[in-house]
Parts: sequence; structure tokens; C-alpha cells
Amino acid sequence: MPPPQAAARRRRGKNVPVVLGLVAVIGVMATLVAYSVPLYRLFCAATGFGGTTERVANDGGAVLGPTVTVRFNTYVAPGLPWRFKPEQSAVTVRLGEEKLVYFSAENLTDQPTVGHATFNVTPYKAGPYFDKIECFCFREERLGPGQKVDMPVDFFVNPDLAKDPNARDVHTIILSYTFFRSREPQKGEDLSRFLASAPPDPRRGKALFAERCASCHALDKNRIGPMLGGVFGRRAGSVPGYPYSPGLKAAGFVWSAKTLDRWLSGPDRMIPGARMPVRVLEPSTRRDIIAYLAALRRAAGNAGTPAAARR
Ligand code: HEC
Repeated sequence: MPPPQAAARRRRGKNVPVVLGLVAVIGVMATLVAYSVPLYRLFCAATGFGGTTERVANDGGAVLGPTVTVRFNTYVAPGLPWRFKPEQSAVTVRLGEEKLVYFSAENLTDQPTVGHATFNVTPYKAGPYFDKIECFCFREERLGPGQKVDMPVDFFVNPDLAKDPNARDVHTIILSYTFFRSREPQKGEDLSRFLASAPPDPRRGKALFAERCASCHALDKNRIGPMLGGVFGRRAGSVPGYPYSPGLKAAGFVWSAKTLDRWLSGPDRMIPGARMPVRVLEPSTRRDIIAYLAALRRAAGNAGTPAAARR
């Protein structure tokens, strides 16, 4: 009989691989969750599964099914002196089709006020399939005295809706927003960031880049997409060693605020056959991401070094 401590040590020793295995599984799962939207998009772009490629194809005018109607409701809780309305009462979209809609918010007083929006989706069984790429929910939002701002919501309905036996009878989805008076007004972010007249904000652009671009692009090396440090002022399709689509490789223009804006609005529309499977529908998002890319150039003296990114 070995002494009991030795047996316990041996047991602990045996458990180490199990624990390490579990840690690895949890790590993989957390990574999958963190990247699931980009992964989903990549997967769809590669395979055409679930409508993403169809969406792109449809920009050329092909007729594709199935559709769902999304209706918008807005409420303002007592205590918040705002007018808050959807700019369209409903839109009909194809499953997988990205759509940009607007809600207008107006401060009816001569004081700055801060609101906080919550939303819900009904029927509840459709909730998991309603994907928002960009919205103003769950943040403290400030409106200046008498200010009125159109707030964007960029969404798509996941094509898996049509495959869920519980939910495939859903033809209408209702998205309801309620704005409350904020309890933490000091945290308010200016809603004026969505105005076309707002100055470009590279700091917001950096955060948006992390959310919307970094799954494919790094600043200092080629990944799924070419490296983007120093892209501003660089000739299109010119990073050595990156396998560009023929159209982009031969494009010949230089990346500027204007060309980047056109590219981000619809890569395959600007350059037929372009292989970047995402676009950015909302103009202030494009503006600030471009401001961030331009700031990188200034910070690096156009050497392509991501100095600004490390700040
Ligand atoms: C799902 C992956 C993916 C995402 C997300 C993505 N891109 Fe791309 N991007 C690509 C690919 C792939 C290419 C190469 C396209 C080609 O060769 O036609 C590319 C090319 C580019 C280029 C051309 C660069 C050059 O060297 O000519 C720019 C600029 C660019 N992307 C900017 C962005 C920005 C900004 C974002 C975030 C809003 C973004 N991309 C998000 C995959 C992606």
C-alpha cells in the first residue's frame, strides 16, 4: 500500500491533463463565441450558405426569396423630454440582407439631456435571428438643447430563421425601442456623432475598426485581407505577397478618403469581382474608420508602421 499522500499526489497528477483539456475546450468555445459573427460571415461568403453571397448577388438585381417584414415601434418613458420616432414604420428584407434604417430623436428642451434605450424583438422566438451590426442601444446618449439627430440601426435577419421549425412561420418581426432618462448622464456620448456635419473622429474609428475590420485585417501583416497600416496614400492592390483579386490588383488608383469611402460602401460595386465580403452601410461609421486610417498614416510618417494603433 503506498502512503495516502502519494496516492493523492498521483490522482492529482492524473487530473492535470483533464483540467488542461477542459481549459483548452473553454478557450476554443470562448474564441468561437467572440468571433462567431465574423466567422459566420466568412463561412457564408466562402460557401454561399444562408444567403450572404445571395445578398451580394442580389445587388445586381437578381430575384431571391424569402422575405420578412420588420416593423418598428418607439416609446419614450415619462421623464425624458424627447421626441423619438422611426423614419419608416416597416421594411421588408430578404433573409440575410443587411439593411440600414433610421430613428430620429429630438430634445424638446433647452437643456442637454441624456437618454438610454432598450429594445425588444417580438415574437420572442425570432429574437435570436435578429442581428444588429450597429445600433444605439444600451448606451447613454446625449442630445444638446433642441438638437435632433437621425440614429442608424444596421441589421439583418439571420437566414437560419427559415430552418428553425419553431420560427419559420414568422413573417413579421417587431423591433421596439424605449428611451428612458439616463441614470448615469455623466457617461453620455454625443448623438451628434451620427450627423453628417460632425467632425471625423479617429478615436471612434479605432474602436469601429476593431469591431468591423480586425477580424480580417491587421495593420502590420497580411491576414485574410491585406495589411492596412499605411493604406492611406498607398496604391490599391499593391501590398507585396497578398493574393489580390485581379480587379483590385489592376485598379491602379491610390487610397484616399474618397476611394476608401466608395470601397467601404460596396467593394464589389466599386470593383467587380472584389473579394472583400463586407461593406459598411452607415456613412458616419465609414467617415470615422477612414479618419483612423488617415491618422495612422500621419502618426507613422507614411511608413506603414501602426504607431497610432498602439496608443
Ligand atoms: C471578412 C473579411 C474582411 C473584413 C471584415 C474586412 N475586409 Fe477589407 N479586405 C478583405 C479582403 C479579402 C480584401 C482583398 C480584396 C480583393 O483582393 O479583392 C480586402 C481588401 C481591403 C482593402 C484594399 C487594400 C489594398 O491593399 O488595396 C481595404 C482598404 C480594406 N479591405 C479595408 C477594410 C476596412 C476598413 C474594413 C472594416 C470596415 C474591412 N476592410 C473589413 C477582407 C475583409
